[in-house]
Amino acid sequence: MLLAERIDEAVRKAVRSARTGVTPPRLASALEYAVTPGGARIRPTILLSVACACGDDRPALSDAAAAALEVLHCASLVHDDLPMFDDAAMRRGKPSVHRAYSEPLSLLTGDSLIILAFGLLARAAPDAPERAMALVDILSRRSGMPDGICAGQGWESEADIDLSAYHRSKTGALFVAATQMGAVAAGQDPEPWEELGARIGEAFQVADDLRDALCGEDELGKPVGQDDLHGRPNAVSVLGVRGAVSRLDDILAGAISSIPACPGEAALAKMVRAYADKIVPSAARQRTSVPGE
Ligand code: IPE
Ligand code: IPE
Ligand code: MG
Ligand code: MG
Repeated sequence: MLLAERIDEAVRKAVRSARTGVTPPRLASALEYAVTPGGARIRPTILLSVACACGDDRPALSDAAAAALEVLHCASLVHDDLPMFDDAAMRRGKPSVHRAYSEPLSLLTGDSLIILAFGLLARAAPDAPERAMALVDILSRRSGMPDGICAGQGWESEADIDLSAYHRSKTGALFVAATQMGAVAAGQDPEPWEELGARIGEAFQVADDLRDALCGEDELGKPVGQDDLHGRPNAVSVLGVRGAVSRLDDILAGAISSIPACPGEAALAKMVRAYADKIVPSAARQRTSVPGE
């Protein structure tokens, strides 16, 4: 089965498990709305690619880990779009959850998805309890405080932002979770996989800054120009468009050379290269200046 199909099936199954029995219909519908049809699903793709490169001897556990990581990511977006954070009306080309359902339901959707993520790992535990506990540990560390998404979002409430800590925890953390959880699901030590995740996360952040500056709302399906609007420092304002594109290519080359030795090393390098081509739409790469400048 293709990775994309494995991920889609695992995520749909996960959300269905949160809708069984008698549930409040609007909240149940909001959970599904927040997770499907989904975005690029880049984090679970990396997770399963690493698991496959390491032998993927417990595919059911890898699928649970991929679904857990993706629903946690979706939860972070639901909360991020709320008026108290970015107040974004659109996400993935449709109204954000609070616009489609309400603020209380949006808060509960994010909460339910975070809890679901850890429940999925707990339910996969009988297969390989020690690996499942390590997966819980990595996911909690990379989503909460002090190293995870909560810390990242927390920097936005500070007068002085430590930019590198902000990016590392807001964006990079779940990429480190992706590589490390893929390794652990396949029974490997997570430590050697941290650097690859961190580098892919760094590349993703530069690409996100480029997309935010160069693409239109229709292209991205979410508000653009947000970095400038919120006065947040970003790679394009610091390096310019050409500088940011070449920085992106350098980081990805470093990512490839940091792949730990494993049976599927060559296939994994191919996946990172394919990701590099996809991460910034080629049409946007051709643009050398920010629209309107
Ligand atoms: C968006 O992540 C949030 C950031 C960390 C910038 P993605 O661009 O991976 O979002 P989806 O899941 O594809 O919509
Ligand atoms: C969202 O970050 C990432 C989270 C950790 C929730 P942004 O606010 O920068 O990303 P977009 O533009 O809304 O996707
Ligand atoms: Mg935000
Ligand atoms: Mg946002």
